[in-house]
Amino acid sequence: MAYIPEDKIEEIKDQLDIVNIISEYVDLKQSGNNYIGLCPFHNEKTPSFTVSSQKGIFHCFGCGEGGDTISFIMKKENLSYPEAIQFLADKLGIFIETGKVDKELYEHRKKLFAINNEAKLFFFHNLLTNQEPKKYIAERGLKKELINKFMIGYATDNFQDLLNYMVKKGYKIEDLLELGLVKKSRKNNSLYDAYRNRLIFPIIDSRKNIIGFGGRTLSNDRAKYINSPESLVYHKSNNVYGVMNLRNASKENKVILVEGYMDVISLSNYGIDYSVASLGTSLTIEQAKLISRYTKNVYICYDGDEAGINAAERALEIFRNINVSPNIVKIPDGLDPDDYLKKYGRDSFNQLLENSLNPILYKYNNLIDEYDLNDIDQKVVFLKKLTELLAEIESKLVRDEYINRFSDDLSIDKDNLQYEIDNYLNTKVKDIRTKKEVINNKSNDGYKKLLLESLRYIIFNPNISKDIIEVSNFLNEKTEFWTKALNIIEKIDYSSEESIKNQINNLNLEKNTKLIFDAVFKVKDYNYYLNEDNAKNYIKSMEKNKLIIERDILKAQFILLEDYDKLTDELKNVYNKLAMDIFKLDIDIKKMT
Ligand code: GTP
Ligand code: MN
Repeated sequence: MAYIPEDKIEEIKDQLDIVNIISEYVDLKQSGNNYIGLCPFHNEKTPSFTVSSQKGIFHCFGCGEGGDTISFIMKKENLSYPEAIQFLADKLGIFIETGKVDKELYEHRKKLFAINNEAKLFFFHNLLTNQEPKKYIAERGLKKELINKFMIGYATDNFQDLLNYMVKKGYKIEDLLELGLVKKSRKNNSLYDAYRNRLIFPIIDSRKNIIGFGGRTLSNDRAKYINSPESLVYHKSNNVYGVMNLRNASKENKVILVEGYMDVISLSNYGIDYSVASLGTSLTIEQAKLISRYTKNVYICYDGDEAGINAAERALEIFRNINVSPNIVKIPDGLDPDDYLKKYGRDSFNQLLENSLNPILYKYNNLIDEYDLNDIDQKVVFLKKLTELLAEIESKLVRDEYINRFSDDLSIDKDNLQYEIDNYLNTKVKDIRTKKEVINNKSNDGYKKLLLESLRYIIFNPNISKDIIEVSNFLNEKTEFWTKALNIIEKIDYSSEESIKNQINNLNLEKNTKLIFDAVFKVKDYNYYLNEDNAKNYIKSMEKNKLIIERDILKAQFILLEDYDKLTDELKNVYNKLAMDIFKLDIDIKKMT
């Protein structure tokens, strides 16, 4: 995507009408100054999705999504920032002229795709004309059609086959190096094909570009698989293997997430055409988002070995972050989906899918397996973990269901379990409260400055000192100094010849109080504080300050709660209340300017 000049972005932003744009996705109704509707980012029955036309922002009080028009489009259309800008520019009929640099980048990307495409054809042709890879495919029991469907190829055992072919085609060596198709020997700088004696799996993106390759060794090479390096066109964390299956996944309304290239292909071999694999890494949030755009009915079907089980737990958390609750398929005997299908067939595999567990039951079963409940020490830990697991469930109704079920299953007292969970949730809330106090203390520096200002105005404006004290009272929630200071100020004799400063100095104050009053009098120009108009303006600004400080503290608390999906019901309520309060304060503050 091309670079878009800053002023162009501003021009587009100026013309955006958030209500207009969001209305294309959400049925919005006016409600006071704002518009509300059903949130497009989570399932809800009563509207908590709010759009402020004036501020150009949206916020969902249900799921916490929020932002401006551009971020709305990014989320809704799954676009990058520049892509979203382009999308909106097209809507507004604004033409974006791209600079020279961007055009070069764009051309370069196009060339890299062309090279990958050429390489794909080369490998494919190799496969058709060589016996060894075809034999391997047959031995693994894969139907011939799969070669076409997945464009499977073969890299020969020679060191420069692809290199020579591509150079003859006129492609530059530096581009081949950039794509990781060719490598340079560290010893003597000689060039050689990166993939040798390997089955080749082209990796395709949703626009059907060949973005990279995976290669499986046919000769027990120590690296079973090698994959394209990150490049201008290949980002493994944003893509999955088997995108062509995602459309089927959408139609079937289910997707199977597996670990390996071979699992995707093998499932296809058995007529199951709706699986994808994360590309050699553990699942990323981008991949989870990509998959769940097609269906939210996800089956995690990782290998049955320990690595697979751990990876499944991580994938669960990733999906949890985007509000998707996947089913977990447990493959017995440490097998992977491919092995299992070969050994037990499709029906048996489908049975595994049917027996898959939701995250709660899955974790519960793991706990049961992990701890020996006849051992009292282990049982204590088990119950603690069970409490945490149950406390994680957002909905009280659902939580109660599981409490009933598990306490029956374990023959433990339901009320006791409930008590433990409530206890756990309360400590969680307390944790947040302690953090809040820390935040409050942190903002004390700002308080102190204001406190000094207030004292100056009070001292020099006896006529309206009461009003100043009143608007400043909120500063004092934490320090007893305020009361002390006011007591001292009361002692000032305004009719006396003696300067106010001296009067206070003569009071024989304790050390800390004296330090503060020294600071109070450390001003260049007393006249400024003596001026009653300034004092009155100060009162006004303090009213606003009070709200700003209040809002900033709430905001800091809000940030503590950011991981909304992980919050319990109780904390979600806290979160929603905070969001609403901040929203209201923002409006009040704006009114005061
Ligand atoms: P087969 O052994 O051919 O059945 O492949 P598999 O898909 O079952 O492989 P495995 O379960 O060992 O690995 C799962 C996935 O991890 C593979 O599809 C690769 O994406 C990746 N992977 C496995 N081995 C390697 C390796 O040596 N290097 C890299 N970079 N990735 C690997
Ligand atoms: Mn395998």
